[in-house]
Amino acid sequence: MSLLEVNNLQVQFDTTDGIVSAVNNVNFSLEEGKILAIVGESGSGKSQTVFAMTGLLDNNGSATGSVKFDGQEILNLSNNELNLIRAEKIAMIFQDPMTSLNPYVRVSEQMAEVLVHHKGISKSEAIQQSIIMLDAVKIPEAKNRIRMYPHEFSGGMRQRVMIAMSLLCHPKLLIADEPTTALDVTVQAQIMHLMSEIQNEFGMSIILITHDLGVVAGNSDEMLVMYGGEVMEIGKTEHLYKNPTHPYTQGLMSAVPRLDDANEKLITIPGNPPNMMLKPVGCPFSPRCNFAINSCSTVTPNLTKITENDHFRACHVPIEELL
Ligand SMILES: Nc1ncnc2c1ncn2[C@@H]1O[C@H](COP(=O)(O)OP(=O)(O)OP(=O)(O)O)[C@@H](O)[C@H]1O
Ligand SMILES: [Mg+2]
Repeated sequence: MSLLEVNNLQVQFDTTDGIVSAVNNVNFSLEEGKILAIVGESGSGKSQTVFAMTGLLDNNGSATGSVKFDGQEILNLSNNELNLIRAEKIAMIFQDPMTSLNPYVRVSEQMAEVLVHHKGISKSEAIQQSIIMLDAVKIPEAKNRIRMYPHEFSGGMRQRVMIAMSLLCHPKLLIADEPTTALDVTVQAQIMHLMSEIQNEFGMSIILITHDLGVVAGNSDEMLVMYGGEVMEIGKTEHLYKNPTHPYTQGLMSAVPRLDDANEKLITIPGNPPNMMLKPVGCPFSPRCNFAINSCSTVTPNLTKITENDHFRACHVPIEELL
């Protein structure tokens, strides 16, 4: 059974300059115990997709469509209901753990409070459980370090604390929004490895948002490529990573720096992401696409299944022409 089913999700923001369409007609589902990576350049709608799902849009934003989590419709639930779901069933970690940790309160207090509040256990029991969780995310000497303040941890260790904290209530879904972007490459790799280990141990589903395609292979089961608020391509990572069939995905792939060749020049996709206020008609990527044909700028391509591997793409250009 799918843990999460997102149907026709749309997000709009009301601004003084007009309506911004940040997310358009996004559909995907996530099975229990699987990791879905959402990738795309800055501004492609990755964060707003998950913010809409979890009721975290800015005040000027609104969402329509359907988000079924564990069989329940959760899109546009009341704040109280969403607070509870976010605390106990869907955990989120962000790029900068300092935005979620209180710098003036010891880690022990912050972690224990979560358990005392949501599980109704005693504080000493809560601290014991928190230490076990810090051990699980491989913080050395967790028993002593739990008494430290957030700023006494390095960036990578702080992100581990955040992950430990997010796991305290054993969520069914963990959403990690660019959890490693602020860290250096070696630490990024360690945190990614930790996340997949934790997934194995705790069995929850994960949505991993990143604009670094390098971390997706080997760390996710499915991948969803977004651009201009729309899904360009979606499929099993194993298959999609080796066989990208959308010019945008191909462009992102060639922009991945190769670790085995330090001299290779980083290729970026020429042009800029669209202004969501003046979104192009047709495929949002068409103004930057080398393969664009006439229909690309007039007709929005539908997501179409291209192989038996549940691999879908939204593109008018015949696949043979992209190879
Ligand atoms: N409060 C808001 N008002 C108007 N537009 C907004 C608001 N919040 C976000 N947007 C717009 O929504 C679009 C999608 O943003 P989103 O945060 O989802 O991008 P992203 O893919 O997560 O990018 P990044 O990789 O930089 O985090 C952007 O064009 C952004 O400017
Ligand atoms: Mg974002």
